[in-house]
Amino acid sequence: TKPLTVLGIETSCDDTTAAVVTSDRKILSEIVRTQHHLHEPLGGIVPTLASTGHMQNLPMVVREALEQANKSINDIDCVAVTRGPGLPPCLSAGMNAAKTLAAVAGKPIVGVHHMEAHALTARLTTENAMGDHLPAPAFPFMTLLVSGGHTLLLQANAVGNYDQLGSTMDDAIGEAIDKASRALGLKWAQGRRGGPGVALEQAALKGDPMRYDSMLPLPLSEREWTKKIGFSFSGLKTAMMRMVERQNITNNEQGVADAAATFQSKCIQHLEQKLRLALDQSIKQQNIPLTALVVSGGVASNNVLRSRLEVLAASYGLPLICPPPKLCTDNGVMIAWAGIERYQAGLIDDYEITTIPKWPI
Ligand code: KG4
Ligand code: ZN
Repeated sequence: TKPLTVLGIETSCDDTTAAVVTSDRKILSEIVRTQHHLHEPLGGIVPTLASTGHMQNLPMVVREALEQANKSINDIDCVAVTRGPGLPPCLSAGMNAAKTLAAVAGKPIVGVHHMEAHALTARLTTENAMGDHLPAPAFPFMTLLVSGGHTLLLQANAVGNYDQLGSTMDDAIGEAIDKASRALGLKWAQGRRGGPGVALEQAALKGDPMRYDSMLPLPLSEREWTKKIGFSFSGLKTAMMRMVERQNITNNEQGVADAAATFQSKCIQHLEQKLRLALDQSIKQQNIPLTALVVSGGVASNNVLRSRLEVLAASYGLPLICPPPKLCTDNGVMIAWAGIERYQAGLIDDYEITTIPKWPI
């Protein structure tokens, strides 16, 4: 049978993205229009401004996605769009574009949960810590999503069926990393996606991760938390910012490297500790035949994190798989792919579909 060709649209945050992907795992096009330059000077994303940007950009972004794929809308089998969670006016901009397009062209529409899309990306294309291509993981698998907006541990059982085992109680890991990077006075190219995290990883290369060990707490390691899964990065972030200020670390290159290395190490240790609890629970207590540990999101491009989690996964007999960094950030490809998986599972929506800005998975 002919493979499905799906158009995916994602506008849950500040990037306007669209892509065309086929069910035989070919990415035919991928268009990303960022609004970083608009929001960065304002110190954060302004939802109404972002949605205006989406409404301006969407027609050309979708048109370019079709052109780059060498397809017309008639060649598309289905339109997939992020339904939630996300910023309400931003989701609406993408949803209205997608369903109008689908209805006019007489194509089915599939609404996709943003986090489901992140989790399913691993089944489109994968690599290990060395960048080698690996076979797609079969259900069930464990996935850790670590980015600027999310810190989430999911057990993926089947398309549309996930158990959320833990999430952050305060800051997302990437948010904390970005604040730490800024506090250290690290430099990166303006508007570069993931810049602060990359700068922190770079600085940590020459640092001693034990230098400030006693000054930065390991989150949620207190007695009442030793057996509980959850994440917290705000305490660690605040301790880091206070330490940098009190010790006048920014004046001293080795101090900056050591602080970056210690902070990075604590973040990773925290993830490792809670991942072990989750894997013990699923594999040892519930006998769930997990096939892989998937790690995704902007922070998953950190090489220290990748190599440490590869060792952890191996100790449970699991491969570690990470989508390539480009697909770890928000993009239309992941929405198109999740749309394909949902379509194939018969999970098709109708043209009255609405957004769900707050949507537990
Ligand atoms: O998934 P992502 O690109 O976008 C959003 O969440 O919107 O994640 C971005 C986050 C940022 O916090 C960035 O600092 C972090 O991922 N990041 C990294 C690295 N590359 C990106 N953190 C640590 N090490 C890296 N190499
Ligand atoms: Zn995301």
